[in-house]
Amino acid sequence: MKNLFLFVVAVGLALMAPAAQAADKATFEGAKVCGKCHDLQAESWQTTGHAKALDLLKPGIRSEAKAKAKLDPAKDYTADANCLGCHTTGYGEAGGYDPAMPPAQAKVLAVVGCESCHGAGSAFKKEHGDAEGRFKKGGATTDRKVLVEAGQTFDYEKACARCHGAATPKPASPFTPAIDAKYAFDFDKAVRAGGKAKGVHDHFKLIGVFAGEPVHRLRGEFQKNAKEGGE
Ligand code: HEC
Ligand code: HEC
Ligand code: HEC
Ligand code: HEC
Repeated sequence: MKNLFLFVVAVGLALMAPAAQAADKATFEGAKVCGKCHDLQAESWQTTGHAKALDLLKPGIRSEAKAKAKLDPAKDYTADANCLGCHTTGYGEAGGYDPAMPPAQAKVLAVVGCESCHGAGSAFKKEHGDAEGRFKKGGATTDRKVLVEAGQTFDYEKACARCHGAATPKPASPFTPAIDAKYAFDFDKAVRAGGKAKGVHDHFKLIGVFAGEPVHRLRGEFQKNAKEGGE
């Protein structure tokens, strides 16, 4: 009986393996790689606080805010495990930011980068290039299921909630609404924020290389108001 059970489990795991494996094996690439094709999103992202999030952990930066949150403004928090999960890309996950990494590798992950919101990109970035090739050759679109299997994420509410709001995993942010009401997080407001308060890059018109679910409920709105010239 026990052997039969193990056999059933083994067959089940083997059947599940291909999709799960591709997403599991995906590692973080850093924003530079995405920016090779998506240069306009990358340029716009550079102007957001996300692109400089690790700097906030340096001594002497935002001293007033730190003191208010009972942190030590003179302390260097740039290697502090209680902070790095929300101030870098992929800290604590395979291939994610690690202060012990070689500096060149650490540098591209020392930000809240593309993959903090879109998922670890080593597998799905290739699908993007391949899909573009097919589309430009004969107009064939590629199903977004392929992207999900390669580890791309489309649940932006969930992506933000890793770092923002009341329900983040531990350790939590020292900057809570109890300290200042401005630290409360409202997804619908934050995802649309512009100007100096911008959290997400500007949007650029897509040509429609990908089709099918999942598509975020705000895609229509973002694309309607999107700028020309992106990829
Ligand atoms: C669970 C995620 C999370 C953790 C852990 C975290 N932070 Fe942050 N941090 C954030 C978010 C999100 C913001 C932006 C808050 C906002 O503006 O509403 C932020 C903002 C900041 C700011 C800017 C505050 C301001 O008002 O200018 C500083 C400084 C900072 N964090 C330092 C730290 C330090 C130091 C640690 C570790 C002791 C830490 N953070 C841990 C998520 C986190
Ligand atoms: C890996 C952690 C992380 C993720 C994921 C993340 N953020 Fe942030 N976010 C931060 C940190 C840290 C800051 C603080 C930057 C600063 O103060 O300069 C911040 C700042 C912001 C700000 C600017 C706040 C202000 O008033 O200056 C907005 C807006 C924002 N994030 C929206 C979002 C949205 C929307 C998502 C999801 C689509 C998201 N963030 C995902 C960590 C994260
Ligand atoms: C704070 C979260 C966040 C970060 C960081 C982020 N994005 Fe996005 N991105 C979004 C959201 C939200 C959308 C809108 C999704 C939709 O329309 O379905 C989006 C849409 C896109 C799109 C679709 C076209 C468009 O312009 O709307 C591309 C391409 C893209 N992002 C690339 C990037 C690249 C490249 C980076 C890094 C340089 C990046 N993103 C960083 C949240 C983020
Ligand atoms: C080889 C070029 C290339 C690279 C590298 C690349 N992409 Fe893309 N990406 C594309 C193309 C082409 C599309 C389809 C654009 C369209 O339909 O207009 C796309 C589409 C997207 C979309 C929208 C998907 C949808 O729902 O339609 C997002 C989000 C995105 N890319 C994010 C990223 C991120 C994050 C990275 C880095 C990990 C990345 N891309 C790397 C070429 C690339």
